[in-house]
Amino acid sequence: MGVRNGMLYHILGLLSVLAFVYMSFGGLRFRFEEGSEVAFVQRNGTQFVVDGKAFYVNGWNSYWLMFQSVDVDSRHRVREMLKTGAKMGLTVCRTWGFNDGGYHALQTSPGRFDEQAFKQALDYVIAEAGQQGIRLLLSLVNNLEGLGGKPQYVKWAWQDGVGLSSSDDSFFFDPSIRSYFKNYIKTILTRKNTITGIEYRNDPTVFGWELINEPRCMSDPSGDTLQEWIEEMSAFVKLIDKNHLVTVGLEGFYGPHDPKSSTVNPGYWASQVGSDFIRNSKISNIDFTSVHIYGDQWSYKQEFEDQLKFVSKWMLSHIEDGDEVLHKPVLFSEYGLSQRIQNFSASDREKIHKTILDIIYKSAKRNKSGAGTLIWQFLVDGINEFSDEYGIVPGGNSSTYSLLVEQSCRLAKVKGWPQQDVKFKQVC
Ligand SMILES: *[C@@H]1O[C@H](CO)[C@@H](O)[C@H](O)[C@H]1NC(C)=O
Ligand SMILES: *[C@@H]1O[C@H](CO)[C@@H](O)[C@H](O)[C@H]1NC(C)=O
Ligand SMILES: *[C@@H]1O[C@H](CO)[C@@H](O)[C@H](O)[C@H]1NC(C)=O
Ligand SMILES: *[C@@H]1O[C@H](CO)[C@@H](O)[C@H](O)[C@H]1NC(C)=O
Repeated sequence: MGVRNGMLYHILGLLSVLAFVYMSFGGLRFRFEEGSEVAFVQRNGTQFVVDGKAFYVNGWNSYWLMFQSVDVDSRHRVREMLKTGAKMGLTVCRTWGFNDGGYHALQTSPGRFDEQAFKQALDYVIAEAGQQGIRLLLSLVNNLEGLGGKPQYVKWAWQDGVGLSSSDDSFFFDPSIRSYFKNYIKTILTRKNTITGIEYRNDPTVFGWELINEPRCMSDPSGDTLQEWIEEMSAFVKLIDKNHLVTVGLEGFYGPHDPKSSTVNPGYWASQVGSDFIRNSKISNIDFTSVHIYGDQWSYKQEFEDQLKFVSKWMLSHIEDGDEVLHKPVLFSEYGLSQRIQNFSASDREKIHKTILDIIYKSAKRNKSGAGTLIWQFLVDGINEFSDEYGIVPGGNSSTYSLLVEQSCRLAKVKGWPQQDVKFKQVC
């Protein structure tokens, strides 16, 4: 994927000096308050690029953004979170772009959408992220139950009398459910933001689309069912939106026929969940890979030193795949060390985080495919109901805060991030 319209950006960049308002032009948006325009994130081989320059991701997960913006009383927390991220030099936030059948759901039943919820939830989150200079990686459905997900779609089909099976995995193979989901994709991609006036598919604030959070299709360990679903859905996204990058949302497990399944996977079980990192990521409409890092969740009896070793091996193996097999960027889209599973200390947590960030930094220095990380997960004070055993409030004095700021700055120094120059001068 080449870099689009470099010259056009250049000319319009000059024009931007004269303007102080938002405007939209052929779907490209330019933000002027910092004297800089926003371009789509694209891919050149194993690297993300913006305006032709390499772009490394240092960012975070806050899945809860929509669920706080939908109520006017709690909405300020969304701005607070995005502002904190921006202050730390973070560039991408991953969050849920779905709410199927839950509280203030976007999709209340198949093909029925709540306009008010859309306005107050997702429109606001995207508009606010744009204001703060943060890009969003939006996930389109959950493999798990949270806020709808696979089980909700299966229930809907059952209630409509069209469902083939009550198995949650029928989400992947039932034609009626596939068309429900495609209808959701189409609705989201063509949604015109009531605040910015920009269709989501034309908004460079969107970093990219993630098809599904952590897909597993246990009923078909051969992987064929999930593979077909990814092929169909990624092609469908690209049919409607050629601007944005697409990823799957995988945990990163090697499939049953991959030699690395026995040497790198956290256990035999990991090859039997119906996903296959290499095969799934090879699909031509998948622009970049996604990998999660949960050593302690996956192998909960390991000593801390073994956790550290696993993290390095797991990351280096996937980066090697990105460079040698897939020729695509590798984004570690979730990582964390549980505060519950093994009572590891705060300094252990910091060591894990540092190990992960160091690997990305080294990869970036060598132009390798390690494209970045998104920590799971950040919160602001007062939203305990969205916390979990990984939740961190990144206060100004916390070690996580300084570690991530350091990562932002050293990655920025590896390569110029042209559209972010102003920001990095302030942060670093
Ligand atoms: C992609 O990267 C290669 C190697 O760095 C460079 O030669 C090429 O010009 C880039 N392509 C585009 C379209 O930017
Ligand atoms: C967890 O570790 C802390 C010190 O690191 C200790 O004070 C506490 O008792 C431990 N809790 C459990 C449940 O082991
Ligand atoms: C990485 O790529 C840049 C151009 O984007 C080049 O200047 C630099 O020498 C490369 N570094 C290595 C270690 O290959
Ligand atoms: C940060 O630390 C300084 C001194 O070490 C202290 O004065 C300040 O209150 C702390 N701020 C926060 C937010 O904890």
